[in-house]
Amino acid sequence: MARGEIIAGLDIGTTKTCAVIAASGPDGLEIIGIGEAPSTGMRKGVVTDLEETVRAIEAATEKAERMAGVHVSHVYVGVTGEHIQSTNNRGVVAVSGDDREVIAADVKRVVDASKIINLAADRQIIHALPRHYTIDGQDGVTDPLGMSGSRLEVDTHIITGGATFIANVLKCVHRAGLEPAGIVFEPLASSAATLLSEEKHVGCVLLDIGGGTTDIAVFANGGVIHSATIPVGGNILSNDIALGLKTTAAEAENVKRTYGSGLTRPDEAEQTFHVKTLDGRSTREVTSAQLRAIVLPRVLEMFRLAKSNIVERLPRDQVLSEVVITGGGAHLRGIETTAAEIFGLPVRIGVPATIAGLTDSVKQPEYATAVGLVLFGPRGEAAPHLNGRTGGTAFAKLWTWFTSIWN
Ligand SMILES: Nc1ncnc2c1ncn2[C@@H]1O[C@H](COP(=O)(O)OP(=O)(O)OP(=O)(O)O)[C@@H](O)[C@H]1O
Ligand SMILES: [Mg+2]
Repeated sequence: MARGEIIAGLDIGTTKTCAVIAASGPDGLEIIGIGEAPSTGMRKGVVTDLEETVRAIEAATEKAERMAGVHVSHVYVGVTGEHIQSTNNRGVVAVSGDDREVIAADVKRVVDASKIINLAADRQIIHALPRHYTIDGQDGVTDPLGMSGSRLEVDTHIITGGATFIANVLKCVHRAGLEPAGIVFEPLASSAATLLSEEKHVGCVLLDIGGGTTDIAVFANGGVIHSATIPVGGNILSNDIALGLKTTAAEAENVKRTYGSGLTRPDEAEQTFHVKTLDGRSTREVTSAQLRAIVLPRVLEMFRLAKSNIVERLPRDQVLSEVVITGGGAHLRGIETTAAEIFGLPVRIGVPATIAGLTDSVKQPEYATAVGLVLFGPRGEAAPHLNGRTGGTAFAKLWTWFTSIWN
């Protein structure tokens, strides 16, 4: 990455659109601008109103550009939604050179070979993430470049998405005057901003609880072994509170943010608070026990859904050591305790921390995806250890694909 190079990320969420601009400096990448605008044209990763989404992208990007004092033309775009699916696959090739030394072209060929999967016409591959390589039967190789052997194998995590859903997101980006530099499945971006490499090695679950979706990425031995999206996020809690306490959406959101799921510790005393009635003219007394009866079952259901989604797809003997919760939903008071109960693992809240230039206001879980886009984005389809070696090719390929969408 050249010194002074500008990299931008765009997270178009269900509740907010966020643009982040970073510049590469002497000490690596540094955040120089961030901008946010409410999202009203996007639901659970799907565009529901094109004009509104374009407006949100323009507003968020303009704010970030003003703060950074630079103009951006290309952005890494986050994608999510129920249309996203993932699978693990394997590719095998013969090492090409006479000296049997693995070169970058072999690595690219083997990753491409792993992309040969049954793919419906309306679906496309978003990522093929190498998990580990095997050379002549020796497995667990993290970087095969320069090693000797005749048979190169790779285990990859393949993420696919609905072409139409993705095309609509990219159409909004394009209409806002920006070119997509690449697309990234959102929990991978969130992971890049919040997880330490030790956590990815020992095995951990990343849960990004947004407004509309909960995005999942599971890591082991440094690579992604499972990823998914479940269509439930923090907004459903506010809906439940509004219905249960017969109040407005705004008041329910306020109650959720202030009191969370009611009592969060057994030694806490019961609280009583006042909630506006639907017409806003008077208030009603509510106890924390009443709030807990509404919120807790839904939070438990969310975590059970996430857990069964993960358990179904992992080998029985897979060891995981931790759950990291990020996204705006991570702010819910008491969420760590509830998650720890369901997963039976230690839980921590993940905030963007793996990049310089972050002010305290950006070190919040809701910015994990946007910040992570500038970190993960430039890696494209390649695994971290291929960074910079195959980037040009991956970019060129993405570029051809993007242009073919609009033509
Ligand atoms: N203090 C808080 N307590 C509880 N929930 C909160 C708090 N602050 C924000 N949230 C919730 O976080 C959610 C928004 O999170 P985030 O900004 O990560 O979502 P998003 O990226 O726009 O949505 P998505 O990722 O689903 O597309 C909302 O449901 C909001 O109510
Ligand atoms: Mg989000």
